[in-house]
Amino acid sequence: MKLTQRPRRNRKTEAIRNMVAETDLRVDQLVLPLFLVEGKNEKQAIQSMPGIFRMSPDMILGEVEKAVGLGVKTFDLFPALPESKKDTYGKESLNPNGLVPTTLKMIRDKFPDVTLITDVALDPYSSDGHDGIVKNGKILNDETVEVLAQMSLVHALAGADIISPSDMMDGRVGAIREALDEDGFTDVGILSYSVKYASIFYGPFREALDSAPKFGDKKTYQMDFRNTREALREIEQDEFEGADMVMVKPALSYLDVIAKVKAHTTLPVAAYNVSGEYGLIKAGAKAGIIDETRAMVETLYSIRRAGADIIFTYFALPMAEWLRQQK
Ligand code: PBG
Repeated sequence: MKLTQRPRRNRKTEAIRNMVAETDLRVDQLVLPLFLVEGKNEKQAIQSMPGIFRMSPDMILGEVEKAVGLGVKTFDLFPALPESKKDTYGKESLNPNGLVPTTLKMIRDKFPDVTLITDVALDPYSSDGHDGIVKNGKILNDETVEVLAQMSLVHALAGADIISPSDMMDGRVGAIREALDEDGFTDVGILSYSVKYASIFYGPFREALDSAPKFGDKKTYQMDFRNTREALREIEQDEFEGADMVMVKPALSYLDVIAKVKAHTTLPVAAYNVSGEYGLIKAGAKAGIIDETRAMVETLYSIRRAGADIIFTYFALPMAEWLRQQK
C-alpha cells in the first residue's frame, strides 16, 4: 500500500512509545483513603475490599509509615463508629476527642509533612445512614450545613490540611469557608466533592463503615447519573463559594464528566476511584478474569487521561510500588 500516514511508526518500539506518551502519573497525585476504627491493635478485613482494612489509630501510624516510604503522602480519613455513637444529629462528629481528631493529631505528631484530608458528611455518625440530619423522612439541608461547618472546625483544630465535604448539601462550601476563616483557619483548604453521583459503586465503602442508608436512597442530594450540565452548575457554585479543589465521583463511569469539568474550571480536579471500582477489579482478578496489576494501571491512567489532577484510590500503595519499578 502507498500510505502517507502510518501511525504505527510511532508505536514501533517501547522507547518511541514512551517518547510520544501523552499522559503521566506521579505518586504525588495519589491519595490513600484510610478507614479508622476505635481501639488498639485492631486491623479488621473488609470483605468486599480485599487488601483494605479498618485500623485503630496505632495501626494507622504503621500504614502511613509504609505509604510515606513508597512516596504516598496524602491521606483521607474515614471513621467506622459503633452504632452506639450514632444518632440523628451526628453529634459524635463534633467531639474534639473523637476518632478522627485523635487520629489526626497522632499522624500529625509523627509525620509533620504529610497532607491530611478529612471527609465531612454525617453518614459515619448518623443513625439513619444519611449524609445529613433526617426529619420526617427528609434530609434537611440548612440544619445539616451548620453541623458540617462545626465539624470542619473540629478537624481543622486537630490538624487537618484540607476539609473535604462529601455530603452534597447546598451551600456547605461557603458555610465551611466562613467558619474556618472566622476561627483563623484561613490556610485550611477545601476540596469539595462538587460532583458526586448517587452511585451503586459506593457499596463496599458502606460495608466498610456500616453506613448504608437505613431507608430510601441518596438521590435527593447526590446527582443523577444522567446529567452533566448539572455537574458544571455544581462546580460553578463551589468555585463561587470558595472551594480550592473540586472532585468528580465516582471516576470510571464518569470519565466524560471529569473531562468536561477539567475544561470548565481552573481549579485542580480530583477524581475518586471508588470502592466498587476497586472491589470489581479485585474480584475479577480473583476469578481469573483479569490481570489485577495491569487493570489497576490502565484504570488509573485512564482517570488521569480524562483530566484528573488528583486521584483518590484504594490502589494507591500498589500503584506507587508499580511506579517505583518503572524507574
Ligand atoms: C459519604 C461518602 C461515601 C464515599 C465517600 N464519602 C459514600 C456515600 O456517599 O454513600 C464513597 C467512597 C467509596 O465508595 O469509595 N459521605
